[in-house]
Amino acid sequence: MKAYTTDVALADLEADLVAVGLFDGDELTEPLGSTAGAADASGEFKSRVIVYPGKPERVAIIGLGAREDFTPEKARVIGAVSQKALKQVKGEVLAWVLPEAPEGVEPGRIAAALVEGAGFAAFEFDRFKSGSDGEEAPPGLKAIEINTDLDVAEAVRIGEAVANAGNRARYLQSLPANVATPEYLAGRAREIADAHEKVTVEVLDRPAIVAAGMGGLEAVSKGGEDVEPRLITLKYRGRGEGEKLGLVGKSVTFDTGGISIKPSAGMHEMKMDMSGGAAVLEAVDAIAGLDLPIDIVAVLPSTENMPSGTALKPGDIITQLNGKTVEVTNTDAEGRLILADALVHCVREGADRLVDLATLTGAVLIGLGSTYAALISNDDDLAAEVTAAGERTGELVWRLPLHEEYKELTKGEITDLVNASAQRKAGTIYAGSFLEEFTEGKPWAHIDIAGTAWDTGREYWGKGPTGFGVHLLVSLARSLAA
Ligand code: BES
Ligand code: MN
Ligand code: ZN
Repeated sequence: MKAYTTDVALADLEADLVAVGLFDGDELTEPLGSTAGAADASGEFKSRVIVYPGKPERVAIIGLGAREDFTPEKARVIGAVSQKALKQVKGEVLAWVLPEAPEGVEPGRIAAALVEGAGFAAFEFDRFKSGSDGEEAPPGLKAIEINTDLDVAEAVRIGEAVANAGNRARYLQSLPANVATPEYLAGRAREIADAHEKVTVEVLDRPAIVAAGMGGLEAVSKGGEDVEPRLITLKYRGRGEGEKLGLVGKSVTFDTGGISIKPSAGMHEMKMDMSGGAAVLEAVDAIAGLDLPIDIVAVLPSTENMPSGTALKPGDIITQLNGKTVEVTNTDAEGRLILADALVHCVREGADRLVDLATLTGAVLIGLGSTYAALISNDDDLAAEVTAAGERTGELVWRLPLHEEYKELTKGEITDLVNASAQRKAGTIYAGSFLEEFTEGKPWAHIDIAGTAWDTGREYWGKGPTGFGVHLLVSLARSLAA
């Protein structure tokens, strides 16, 4: 999908569909207002009416709601509404007459949000429908043009990068576990490194993971008899000096629970347990594509979590990369075991601050649903940066606390730590508190996306994968690079 700006007159727009917004209580401008059917249009948020003025051929009049309540997030939603109208008329090129930004909001943010909303809404996953060519589907939306005389070109360029990267992450999330294996993700990482001069990649296989002492990743991968684990490290040198941002993404390509096996209903959705890794990969690709002046070390610990005769067993004791010992009381709490090694590795590779994304706990779905991801952090400044990036992008996070008393829950009787407690207390915080043991004193923010990576029902994401985190990480990187 391409996005660009133009400043021609409405009558000269040549898109398959031209979208025009209408605020509550406003009148359409002439001659559009007297076109047949235009009287049915309203300012009601998300309403849409298509009219045929001749020049341009087709116009969708889309309700923006109250002028004073308009926000970038609402622009994302109406961007999605406009994409649905484009699909209805089987069009491929969409133009938006840029609506007026509310006071205090930069017009570029509205422009970018329209591109993101329309771009996300155009995502389709039909690679496995017979008759498709077996390739990634070309988006129904080929191009979106933002029509304005304001200078929003840079914002639109970033919106385009975010929409495309988000959709690539959603594609990875959608792929089944018999396609998107750890080696498949490593292949995508190599592709990203090949595409950008400033990106390098290193991939460790099982013997190298074992030799390095990554006891968590080794343990979780033991049940996978023919699917081999990978530890993927991507480095982006966009500045070449100063602070390095560490990004870690949980990349369990299928989570059965292992010997502590999950119930069968809904288990197929656990192909999405690599959503954190998918978001990190595609965010790095977007950040490199935008040539942001920042240095990044990204780490993806990737494995299946399978039961088998060789699998990790409840009660097994392992040693993580930093020497801490863990009694594995529940093999379904596997994410924290592989992230622990990845966080330590990320610091050893030079990260000064850490952000990890993981579909880590079912408890976050109970606590926050699909509206907010959970944020857990040992550093108020980094937490504030992540929260602000969440608000700018609509990928919202809500901070949960750390406390000494939660630490007590994670302490082992015969080891330093246990990976899960028999008490069902504060499941999301427990996992965060466990991870903190592996942050090596660095500022760290953990984002639990188990509730927001899939099936949020947001207008622009709908059912299925969301790519949650891609936009947030790009926005965070822009803010840290500034
Ligand atoms: N991958 C799951 C968490 C998950 C749940 C992701 C729902 C997406 C949707 C994770 O590995 C897991 O199984 N967590 C357990 C931890 C428990 C055993 C302490 C959970 O949340 O039940
Ligand atoms: Mn699990
Ligand atoms: Zn998992």
